[in-house]
Amino acid sequence: MQLQRPFLKWAGGKTKLVPIIRGLVPAEAKRLIEPFVGSGAVALNLDLPAAILADRNADLMGLYRELKRGGKRFIARCAELFTPEANSAEVYYARRAEFNATKDRRRKAALFVYLNRHGYNGLCRYNSRGGFNVPFGRYVAPGFPGVALSAFHQRLAGCQLEAADFRPILAAAGPGDFVYCDPPYVPASNTANFTAYSRTAFGPAEQAALAAAGRAAAQRGACVVISNHDNPTTRELYADADERHELLVGRRISCRPGGRTAVPELIVVYRPRGQRRGIETAA
Ligand SMILES: C[S@@+](CC[C@H](N)C(=O)[O-])C[C@H]1O[C@@H](n2cnc3c(N)ncnc32)[C@H](O)[C@@H]1O
Repeated sequence: MQLQRPFLKWAGGKTKLVPIIRGLVPAEAKRLIEPFVGSGAVALNLDLPAAILADRNADLMGLYRELKRGGKRFIARCAELFTPEANSAEVYYARRAEFNATKDRRRKAALFVYLNRHGYNGLCRYNSRGGFNVPFGRYVAPGFPGVALSAFHQRLAGCQLEAADFRPILAAAGPGDFVYCDPPYVPASNTANFTAYSRTAFGPAEQAALAAAGRAAAQRGACVVISNHDNPTTRELYADADERHELLVGRRISCRPGGRTAVPELIVVYRPRGQRRGIETAA
């Protein structure tokens, strides 16, 4: 089956892991739950009949709501923002200021698509007051992702959308649910960095809470898959998982344009009782 690409650029996008994740979905699964949906690379490529898509980023979930509600009309509004004249620092910073000030949800959502494609590296970053503060990206000609927006609009039919922390979303999981969790990763190599997170970031307490919530959801009957860096911290965190899949994933390195490296990643699975296959390790 061909892979669909999300319309947003998003740090940690998981299109490459889709073939592995597809293979982990139990035959009896009826609903997908993604508490860290980001650009939706996984949701877009798993065709379970129902889904709860959630993320703590309210701007992101506001955009998905407007796309779901407005469809073609909303996509046309986004397209109007992609003109050659709009690919300048002057227009970018004016629209960034408008995005941060506006109370018009539809306009804000369309501006989010523009900022994602014209901002530096497709980053999504906020200052301490909650203002989007990514600098202008200086691309030659940012393309409008019209086809990908339409594909995502189709996927959103029948999806429940929530702007929320992962805890209440995971608490709703039970029998028949396939839960895929792709949290902000722990630092790749140095566990001492673990304390360097800011107050609002995803720190050791959140990583531990996610592992516990995943385990609890499997005890209630859900199948729970979690991905992260493969390092001593995550191996310890997920030592009791029913399956561990270790793999090397090619990733772009932001400090070197065009530079790529292979990063060790870990996918763990907590299966409900009766569906356990025993520990297995796949290269
Ligand atoms: C690694 S990204 C997910 C990428 C996604 N799998 C994709 O393919 O684009 C992690 C996501 O977690 C979200 N996030 C961070 N903290 C969260 C929290 N406490 N609860 C829910 N979502 C959170 C971020 O907004 C971000 O979209």
